[in-house]
Amino acid sequence: MKSGFAKMGIGAVFFGAALASVTGLKAQDTADKTTWSGLYTEEQATRGAAAYAANCQACHGNQLGGTGEAPAIAGGEFISSWNGLSVGELFERIRTTMPFDRPGALAREQYADILAYILKYNGFPAGQAELDKRTEVLNSIKFVATKPAVALEQRSARPGVGGPAWLAASSSVAQAAAAAAAGQVDPNGYPNPYRTSENYLRLPAGRTMGSSSAVAIDSKGHIWVADRCGKNDCANSDLDPVMEFDGSGKFLKSFGAGMFLFPHGLFIDQHDHLWLTDGHKAAGKGYQVFELDQDGKVLRTLGKAGVAGDGHDVFDEPNAVVVARDGSIFVSDGHTPGKGNARIVKFDANGTFVTQWGTRGPGPDQIEVPHALALDSRGRLFVADRWNSRIQIYDQSGKLLDSWSQFGRPSGIFIDKNDNLYVADSESRSPQGYGYHPGWKRGIRIGSARTGVVRYFIPDTDPNPDKGATSGAEGIWADDKGVIYGAQVEQRAIVRYVKK
Ligand code: HEC
Repeated sequence: MKSGFAKMGIGAVFFGAALASVTGLKAQDTADKTTWSGLYTEEQATRGAAAYAANCQACHGNQLGGTGEAPAIAGGEFISSWNGLSVGELFERIRTTMPFDRPGALAREQYADILAYILKYNGFPAGQAELDKRTEVLNSIKFVATKPAVALEQRSARPGVGGPAWLAASSSVAQAAAAAAAGQVDPNGYPNPYRTSENYLRLPAGRTMGSSSAVAIDSKGHIWVADRCGKNDCANSDLDPVMEFDGSGKFLKSFGAGMFLFPHGLFIDQHDHLWLTDGHKAAGKGYQVFELDQDGKVLRTLGKAGVAGDGHDVFDEPNAVVVARDGSIFVSDGHTPGKGNARIVKFDANGTFVTQWGTRGPGPDQIEVPHALALDSRGRLFVADRWNSRIQIYDQSGKLLDSWSQFGRPSGIFIDKNDNLYVADSESRSPQGYGYHPGWKRGIRIGSARTGVVRYFIPDTDPNPDKGATSGAEGIWADDKGVIYGAQVEQRAIVRYVKK
């Protein structure tokens, strides 16, 4: 689709940069180094095996095959998920996030030794020199899944080596864009291997599901929904909007009557606390972010009830909230294009303002309607920049790292622990005006938060999407097995999608 490329904007610039850096590197020795080049010594891998046993084995298993605690870090699925990225990226992933319970606890040398062992275990050959412990050096080495038959094949491998770690990942995005420009990729043409169930959650007698953009799953596998009190607004309702269901869809309990006007974003943190945003305001109520325990007790709030503003302790239509592993809180603020705020606000674990970023507009580093948030395994913040029909990816201090348009016009974003990315498009329309995004169908696009590659598309079922401003999922979450839940505003339903 031509529109795909035209929308790429910043991605297209990165594509150029990636090509240029590859051309530059061709002259150097490192240019064609891959996981097949003999990156470590046998001795180093032996040291790594001991360090692995002491620091990683408890969770990842003695054969690197994973346990109930952690995924496999050997085998086909692991190898293919890193294919095309750089060894530096894998190194950083391990160094900055592992061991899971005490990230960064080991010395660089030890991380390099362990990575040498992981490479060996995955069938990559040993060589004459030890694996480097410097990320910059490892960034120029490509992780290649399959053994190249001849040296020439390596030379023709796709670009993406060199530059900052994230650039290596974005080259695949640039490729997707280039492919889209060449008419090879239909943004609506990905396979849909999912089957749909519309009425999985069983509500108490007499209660009907209202509009919802808020669904999330806790550590027990329970499904939490915040609807808008059987309608599309909780004002003057005595119904409980926050509802808990067990994994089979059975209703367990509810709370929150009178607390919210317009539940909008829902996030569940590592302590199973519920974080909710209220997107409307009235006298003494609304425009706040709530942290609740599972009994509905308010643990804290951010923002001032019923007060709109752009300061450090007030919001104006807060959309979404996510909490990072270290407790940092990110709120995306501003729901109306051309009005109010269009910013991300960061607070520390105590709820103290740290920083904010975002100016309104379509520029490369701007935002318009930051409708949803998600964090990937490396702590990158994905922002659904809805009005600009793209995902903005930032580091945790607000530096723009990348900009992806291949997942559609995002209303909802979720990233699972293996960096699968789920994006709900509830707005794309062909006529000029609200939701203008010709050529793109509404639905859920699923792919990789690491590489930016889209794999699946679950089309929305609205027969006439051009008629209304929204249909299909706005809120989205997936469980550990990849079962997806979409929270729908227009159809007033929570829909479940399971792989066939
Ligand atoms: C306390 C349990 C625990 C320990 C110890 C641990 N990990 Fe992990 N690891 C996890 C979990 C859980 C995940 C998946 C979630 C995440 O990435 O945050 C993971 C993910 C990973 C991944 C990403 C897998 C992928 O799909 O790409 C790698 C690589 C990894 N760990 C390596 C290591 C190494 C190396 C060590 C030792 C230095 C280690 N881990 C120690 C729990 C652990």
